[in-house]
Amino acid sequence: MPIDQHTAPRPSDPAPQPATADPIAKLHLDAGHCAVVGLQWGDEGKGQIVDMLAPLFDLITRFNGGNNAGHSVLIGDQKFALHLVPSGILYGDKINVIGNGVVVNPQGLLGEIDGLRARGVKIAQNLRISSRAHVVMPYHRTEDQLYAQVTAAVSSGAEDIGTTGRGIGPCYADKAQRTTAVRVGDLLRPDDLQPQIRRAVSIKNAILGALAQLAQQPFTPFDADQVLAEALAFGQRLEPHITDTTHLLQEAIESKKRILFEGANAALLDIDHGTYPFVTSSTTSALGVYTGAGVPNGTLGNVIGVAKAYTSRVGGGPHPTELKDALGERIRTAGQEYGTTTGRPRRVGWLDLMAVRYSARLNGATGLVVTGLAVLAGIETLRVCVGYKLGGQMLDAYPADGLLLARIEPVYEELPGFAQALGDCRSFGELPPAARAYIERIERFVGVPVKLVCVGRKRDQVLAR
Ligand code: IMO
Ligand code: MG
Repeated sequence: MPIDQHTAPRPSDPAPQPATADPIAKLHLDAGHCAVVGLQWGDEGKGQIVDMLAPLFDLITRFNGGNNAGHSVLIGDQKFALHLVPSGILYGDKINVIGNGVVVNPQGLLGEIDGLRARGVKIAQNLRISSRAHVVMPYHRTEDQLYAQVTAAVSSGAEDIGTTGRGIGPCYADKAQRTTAVRVGDLLRPDDLQPQIRRAVSIKNAILGALAQLAQQPFTPFDADQVLAEALAFGQRLEPHITDTTHLLQEAIESKKRILFEGANAALLDIDHGTYPFVTSSTTSALGVYTGAGVPNGTLGNVIGVAKAYTSRVGGGPHPTELKDALGERIRTAGQEYGTTTGRPRRVGWLDLMAVRYSARLNGATGLVVTGLAVLAGIETLRVCVGYKLGGQMLDAYPADGLLLARIEPVYEELPGFAQALGDCRSFGELPPAARAYIERIERFVGVPVKLVCVGRKRDQVLAR
């Protein structure tokens, strides 16, 4: 059935949720466009905030990353895990844009579309995909996995990045390489696509064969005809959604529509400004909005930075405040810190204010949202990292370099904990004094107002400051 004529019954159609005036009003958003970005290493709870803000906007736009991201949104008792589709899809009346800066795995996207439809979510012209977005091809996943296996096999002592294995890095690498790249728009032009895929598959087979040999892994070369046939079939199914989203967004801006830019991954995973090389392969910070969606400087009136009240990280790389003990296990359990995309246990630790301040500045955050505060209940003394020492010297700047960061020594400040469970608090004033003091400390250190505090995943657990 063509996508536009999708008329399946929608028994559990999630009701559009009206904006609860209070928390949103407290964000003091100006009338312009807005980005929501993560300030740590991901999984800060951006999905919940985007979902809450969506009613104020006409378009919800993804500008970076691929299906390595995982946003979970709770609507009533239903949990929706989104990887590529913007969270605004859960509202029937929003235009959801997958911008040119995103890398699209067509199989993953179609699976997500089918899964959402089966749960009654309408997906038609409300989902638009940039013809300039790059396609994650089947060999990209193999490449991602082979690089991890090579790292293990050659035992050079270098740490593995610990990718999600979704082929995101290899796809962005091909975008920069150009010769081996495939864009979404190409899927609609069989005559152009055929020679392009033949060339890419020949080159990839040679490279992957060599990598497999190094990793001492078996490798079956990709068959160009099969890759082409699959790609064309994906193109056919996605065609109704594929468009020039740069034009679409520019027109939207001209006609005074409001756009919400939904960040995926997070600022410390930014390819340029994150803890390189332990990062993802796109511009995850708000800086990526411009190139990843094709909108001009000045578009963003508001940048909402989301930070968790503690820190988590999945995959490899330094994590200065990591707790590898029973307390870490307790936070992981209380915070359900297991990956939405890969199910891996997240490496949790104390709140690293050096990192959050750096990210807030980088993103030009106009307001902060602190999530996960309730997870810290019952810990007698809380610690927050307020400085870094390297070779006995205090550092002024955040060393956004994975190898340097691994050598720093965190300097902590202790703050009194709170015993009380916070899930039932319905206003900032109802929080115990120690919890409020914790939030105030964050605000003072980072220098950006904390506008909202989340004490749970439900809508009424977002408290305005
Ligand atoms: P959301 O949107 C947490 C991490 C991976 C790995 C590194 C590179 O859910 O907050 P990649 O597959 O991109 O090559 O992996 O980045 N990573 C994330 N960690 N949340 C995410 O996104 C992430 N996206 C990438 O675990 O360490
Ligand atoms: Mg995630």
